[in-house]
Amino acid sequence: MTVAWERSGWRRKPRIQMPDYRDPGRVSAVERELNALPPLVFAGEVRNLRSHLAKVCEGKAFLLQGGDCAESFSEFNADAIRDTFRVLLQMAVVLTYSAKCPVVKVGRMAGQFAKPRSAATESQDGVELPSYRGDIINGIEFNENARLPDPDRMLRAYTQAAATLNLLRAFSQGGYADIHHVHSWTLGFTEAKEAEKYRGLAARITDALDFMEAAGIDADRVGRLKRVDFYTSHEALLLEYEEALCRIDSTSGKPIAGSGHLIWIGDRTRQPDGAHVEFCRGVQNPIGIKCGPSLEVSDLLSLLESLNPGNLPGKIVLISRFGRGKVANHLPRLVRAVERQGASVVWCCDPMHGNTVKSDSGYKTRRFDSVLAEVREYFSIHAAEGTYPGGVHFEMTGKDVTECTGGIRDVSDEDLHDRYHTACDPRLNSSQALELAFLVSEELSKHQFSRSSDNPVAAA
Ligand code: PEP
Ligand code: CO
Repeated sequence: MTVAWERSGWRRKPRIQMPDYRDPGRVSAVERELNALPPLVFAGEVRNLRSHLAKVCEGKAFLLQGGDCAESFSEFNADAIRDTFRVLLQMAVVLTYSAKCPVVKVGRMAGQFAKPRSAATESQDGVELPSYRGDIINGIEFNENARLPDPDRMLRAYTQAAATLNLLRAFSQGGYADIHHVHSWTLGFTEAKEAEKYRGLAARITDALDFMEAAGIDADRVGRLKRVDFYTSHEALLLEYEEALCRIDSTSGKPIAGSGHLIWIGDRTRQPDGAHVEFCRGVQNPIGIKCGPSLEVSDLLSLLESLNPGNLPGKIVLISRFGRGKVANHLPRLVRAVERQGASVVWCCDPMHGNTVKSDSGYKTRRFDSVLAEVREYFSIHAAEGTYPGGVHFEMTGKDVTECTGGIRDVSDEDLHDRYHTACDPRLNSSQALELAFLVSEELSKHQFSRSSDNPVAAA
């Protein structure tokens, strides 16, 4: 029998990937302070996202999720937020054209601060210190003081998330997201000689926009072309922060996570009986579940049962991340189990986390080709299984960093040191991210995916 949920119930479950704070009194004071502050997102927005994702379940929309691996306090500024938002919009326009359906836009932004780590400690020159766990927990500098978990960082993360959301709301509603502007930035990209191969698709989008304008469907008349719905997401890892921002929705009387629109459970913390699943099962937000190679079918089914007992469409996003060449070993068994169960889920592909390698120059990197290869494998498996590949998930930034290799500007191993700024995993830069949107778009148009009208379960 399912035990009644309470927001602190996770505290009775095994605590993994979370810090052991030294001063419990200070942690409680921070929690009280966060608890008194307004939530960052509101129940109506969360419900809207869930209904958009329900459309993805039916094959009538496509999900684009992207942003930093780890947001950081030091890299925080208005330009960085604007640039990432801008590339996500550009990618969304390209994908809308090929998917022929609305693209649901979700940033890994305004809360993506806490990081799970494979090793509890890090060694440098014979000195061993606790690992960096994201700016909401400790500092990245390699010294003892910085690596101590500091609860006050939760307050700074909240403030930064609030300021980020404030800008995102202004950009998405204030005219900056006008589809004609967004497409003109993309034309700037395809003008470059190396981007020649993407010009054809860009020109077809120009034609479509010109046609709409000629038919009287212009941005001044149709608000939808000037504004976008933009949502935030992060891994719900630091449960003290999540619990303190959990609120009761006054309309439904049910709890929501006020920290972001969509929260996900990482590949390392998805134990069906663990603390993270316990917290997430009680909130109304859409919940992502990272699905890596070690995920067993039986665990996936119990996760679906506890996180979405009513089988609500738009509630669960299964984010597969197996690595190039490995998708066929794992995805079919999960897809078939979900189909047999009749579970309503959004399938999404994260081609980043299974493709991290160490470059010859020593940097943690990802090859553009491997990222693309995993997306291709994901599409072809869904095409073969008769299921809908509902979305993609990228670690990316709007800045011109050199963290992943490859792409038309061909970042090489030797270039990595140039602008390697990430606080955690390597991100696609703006050119690589947009190029990938073109290539994913080509893949989308190649396949005939089954959409819900032929799927009685999702349509019910
Ligand atoms: C992440 O998305 O940043 C992450 C750590 O992913 P995963 O849990 O899939 O390893
Ligand atoms: Co990452």
